[in-house]
Parts: sequence; C-alpha cells; structure tokens
Amino acid sequence: MQTRNGVKGIVLAGGTGSRLWPVTTAVSKQLMPIFDKPMIYYPLSTLVMAGVREILIITTPRDRQQFERLLGDGSRFGLRLDYASQPTPAGIAEALLLGETFIDDSPVALILGDNIFHGVGLGRQLSRHRGRDGAHLFAYPVGNPEAYGVVEFDATGRVISIEEKPAAPRSRYAVPGLYFYDHKVVDIVRDLKPSDRGELEITAVNAAYLAAGELTVTVLDRGTAWLDTGTFTSMVQASEYVRVMEERQGLKIGCLEEAAWRAGLIDDQQLAALADPLVPSGYGIYLRNLLEWTPAHRGDVRVLTGQRADIDH
Ligand code: TTP
Repeated sequence: MQTRNGVKGIVLAGGTGSRLWPVTTAVSKQLMPIFDKPMIYYPLSTLVMAGVREILIITTPRDRQQFERLLGDGSRFGLRLDYASQPTPAGIAEALLLGETFIDDSPVALILGDNIFHGVGLGRQLSRHRGRDGAHLFAYPVGNPEAYGVVEFDATGRVISIEEKPAAPRSRYAVPGLYFYDHKVVDIVRDLKPSDRGELEITAVNAAYLAAGELTVTVLDRGTAWLDTGTFTSMVQASEYVRVMEERQGLKIGCLEEAAWRAGLIDDQQLAALADPLVPSGYGIYLRNLLEWTPAHRGDVRVLTGQRADIDH
C-alpha cells in the first residue's frame, strides 16, 4: 500500500458511450469484453504496472454497482480501490475534481477506462514518470489526429502547442488517455471554465502546464500499442489484437491478477485463490499455469524484464 504522497490513480470509466449504442444502452462501455476480460482490466493493469496501488474508479451513477461487483475493494488484487460517480459526462478533467479528496496532496495518474496500452518495457517506462513534478503526457502518431488532443513539437523536440480535436492538426501526434500530474492539478482544474462543448477539457489542463513550462511529453515508441475502444470497429480490432498476441505468445495482456502478482502485491497462494473460480473459462487455468512455471523460468522472466512487474500487459 502506498504511503502518504504515493501516487494515486484514477480510472475514468463514465461517459455516454453513444458511439456504441445500443450496446451500451444498458451496460457500461468499460465493462464490455475486449476478447477475454472486461475493458477496465486493461487500464487497471497499466496503472498497476506503473506502480500505482490506490485507485479511484469513476463511473456513471447507473453503472457503479456493477464495477463494485466486478472489482470490490481491490484487496483480492492487493490494491485499494475506491469509487466515485460522475452524474453527467462533464469532461475528462472533472475526474480530478471528483477525486479531489482522494488525491489529497499526492501526485496522480489519470487513465481513461477505454484506453489499452501494451508494449515491452512499458511498465518500467511509465514508472519513471510516477510522482514527478509538473505534468507528464505521452504522444503517439496516428492517422486521424483530429479526433484527439494533438501535441506539436519544435525541431529540438520541445512541446510548442497542444490543442483539443483541431480541425487542422499541427502534427500527427495524438495524446493518449494516460496523464501524470503533480498535486497542483486540482487547483488548475478548479480554475477552468467549461469549453464551448460544455466540458472541463483535459487539454486545457495540459495547456496550463505547458504555459507554466511544466509539461513534458514522451513519444511512445513504435513497439508500443495504444488502442482506444470507443467504436464498434475499434472494439473488435482491440479484441482481435489481444487474441492474436495472447495466442501467439501464450501470455495475457491486461490480466489484472497477473499484473498484481508480478508486482508482488499478491503471493502465489492469493493468485491460486483468484484462479480457482475462473477455471471454467480457461482464464483460471492460465493463472494456475503461471504458478507452475519452473522457478528458473519465472526467474528468467523477471531477470529479462527487470522487476517482477515488468512483463507488460
Ligand atoms: P469518450 O470516448 O470521448 O466519450 P464516451 O465514452 O462518452 O463515448 P461516446 O463519445 O461514444 O459517447 O470518453 C473517453 C473516456 O473518458 C471514456 O472511458 C469515458 C470517459 N469519460 C468520462 O468518464 N466522463 C466524461 O465526462 C468524459 C468526457 C469521458
């Protein structure tokens, strides 16, 4: 468990999900399956790999109970999970106000509940930004930057602008939904006015850090996959990506139980207890098999990837 001033995590899993209607008419998008697990497992695993142990899950009031049924208080995973409701989707930055008491005076990592990250060394890379001063974002080249926050760099790699869904993007670099902030972020959001579309914009928060000279951005390397899953097509593509990688490598992506075990948050007995009820789907067999790897093999994996947490799912 993090001590005071350890990095807090927030998963923002509310929203309307209108691009998935009627699928999301009765069920939260972030509870939909991406191949073999609920969507929210992926961002949760990403936070665990980044070294975050206390996490606030923000949902719509309608869906909160279902998330609680799925994940409980997190103790099964060696985590502390709290919940909050967002009455209306008033913007990504509102998560930081809803989480104000939870954040207290700690740094915070905010991740969108429909964003999937996967890549070798990602956990280690993310851990480096945990708890630093200022704001830290990532950038990822995409074919449709106009759908995202877009960051522009000068020739020396310095960030010179950041814009929300620009009609004429100044670069191909989209900002993925994973943001690291110092404790000042709550004050910044408190001063924000809603945008023309009536939302507290996360891009406005990032622009405030840029104006203060406190924004850093890392371009995710091409070995890292970043998928968002907000449309029918992108959901199927993400499921297919996970299926192909899992079947080929024999390792799961976004497996919260495994991430917690590799991070040392739960021990072998606790992993076995999580595995047992999940045997009928095959998911539990995978977890059990992790325990049956020879110690040498497990050791190799850890040596190859640094700490236990660093197989990146
Ligand atoms: P979006 O995909 O932009 O919005 P949405 O999920 O409501 O879907 P749609 O556009 O199809 O209606 O949101 C990105 C993520 O952020 C997603 O996980 C939902 C979450 N979100 C909130 O929880 N609250 C909000 O106020 C906003 C804007 C987004």
